[in-house]
Amino acid sequence: IPYPVITIDGTTASGKSTVAQEIAKALGFTYFNTGALYRAVTWRILSLGYDVHDEEKVVEACSRLKLRCAIQKIDSFYKATVILDERVPDEKTDLRSAEVNAAVSIVASYARIREWLLPFQRELAYQTPLVVEGRDMGSVVFPESPYKFFLDAQLEEREKRREKQGEKDDVEKRDRLDQSRSSAPLLCPADAVRLDTTKLSIEKVVDKILDVLWKKG
Ligand code: C5P
Repeated sequence: IPYPVITIDGTTASGKSTVAQEIAKALGFTYFNTGALYRAVTWRILSLGYDVHDEEKVVEACSRLKLRCAIQKIDSFYKATVILDERVPDEKTDLRSAEVNAAVSIVASYARIREWLLPFQRELAYQTPLVVEGRDMGSVVFPESPYKFFLDAQLEEREKRREKQGEKDDVEKRDRLDQSRSSAPLLCPADAVRLDTTKLSIEKVVDKILDVLWKKG
């Protein structure tokens, strides 16, 4: 990969999104939340009326979807957005609805869906330096990255954070599904820097990551 890629993986509501955005801002890199890819696909599949448990139908329906990613400047930083069938799904009402929260880990467990989405993720690294966030960034999508981080926090704290965001989301169940799937399960890569964010502020986590990056040069 021609450009530097900083990978941030971790459990649900461990602080990945906010931290990844701050790192992207600080370095002038493009922020890419790969969860949005899985969420956008799940949202579309649900709105087309498919049962997400029907793997064959889901895979077939996905082969007809027109998907692309575009880099946009939002406020003071660059962000990769997902465009599906020429529509940009709304972050709050479409991508983070209770229905999508409940179904996304099922769709994300299908190996053929993950394979299909792989090139969309890698392709962006040919366009711009990236801060990527997800579950398998360091392990599968960008294993060659020398800048890997893994965030986690105690379950109770993560549930509290999600609740504060006003979202209906079964954090524990989603983690369980993400960790137990056979294709690209959620795990901390052996060469990643692991951070427990239970008692850390966003600023502290960002400082720690920038410090590690600084020392790596
Ligand atoms: O990060 P976010 O919570 O938005 O991700 C939603 C879901 O998408 C995750 O729970 C997981 O099932 C899936 N996902 C994934 N691999 C990624 C990013 C997200 O399987 N790289």
